[in-house]
Amino acid sequence: MAYDPSIYRGSAAHYRIGRPPYAPQLDDALREAAALDGAGRLLDVGCGPGTLILRLARYFHEAVGVDPDGDMLLEARAAADAADPANVRWVQAVAEDLPLAAPGPYRLVTFGQSFHWTDESRVAEAVYDMLEPGGMMALVGHAAAGRPVPRNPGAPPIPHAELEALVTRFLGSTRRAGLGTAALRTRTAQDLLSDTRFGQAEVVVVPGIPDLIRDSDSIVAGYLSMSWSAPHLYGSRLHQFTDQAHQILDSADPDGMFWDWAGDTEIVVARRRNGVAAEGPT
Ligand SMILES: C[S@@+](CC[C@H](N)C(=O)[O-])C[C@H]1O[C@@H](n2cnc3c(N)ncnc32)[C@H](O)[C@@H]1O
Repeated sequence: MAYDPSIYRGSAAHYRIGRPPYAPQLDDALREAAALDGAGRLLDVGCGPGTLILRLARYFHEAVGVDPDGDMLLEARAAADAADPANVRWVQAVAEDLPLAAPGPYRLVTFGQSFHWTDESRVAEAVYDMLEPGGMMALVGHAAAGRPVPRNPGAPPIPHAELEALVTRFLGSTRRAGLGTAALRTRTAQDLLSDTRFGQAEVVVVPGIPDLIRDSDSIVAGYLSMSWSAPHLYGSRLHQFTDQAHQILDSADPDGMFWDWAGDTEIVVARRRNGVAAEGPT
């Protein structure tokens, strides 16, 4: 699919505050799975505001974040300034421009909720060649469907049904994405990878945060961070949407504090199988 630069237009500023974090044990799971020891290089594709790369950079000699959205990269740079990792650099590019945009070799290539935005098979094959021998690709995301829900920690759950109905009233029932509508996925990433040189991928599940409590502002920001509810889609009615979203939250809980269960964190792990070194400068 061709990249549409408007998919997250206006979302970047809401992303860090609005999205629930990945599982705390994600770092350990990746360290173990990819045998990370402080050496080698990380490539984080579709890095957004630096969510994954700024957690993981410390386990590498160098880390490279790639994203086509300039506003996301601005947020990432600001977060990096606060966290002060000396070994991170940023590249504005689409995944389809790999390997040229950010040549290998890499020990680990991550995609945090971003692989589905790319021309997946072609990008997977490019990444395969960019991995060092024994290197790994990891597709990271939240997984709630079909998984056990932890015990409610004592705050009301986010009224997603009402909030999503509000989005539908404003934007219609077909999920929007940029200038068009969201593409329907017909295959899982695992299924798709099985037809690439990666072959059979493994799924690792790391327990999510069972007692995450978030306030109304961060919940509304979460909606604005989604491609299907991004600020640009509301046009001049953006404030009407956010006001009505706050009203829904106020009537669900006047204290404005909600339990967010985003699910466990799922990692689809795919490994470079042969021992042939990846090409390209280091
Ligand atoms: C849901 S955000 C994920 C951000 C971050 N990786 C995370 O885990 O929170 C998806 C990101 O993928 C980026 N993206 C969209 N199409 C892309 C493409 N073709 N190549 C690389 N990144 C892309 C978007 O700009 C956005 O920053």
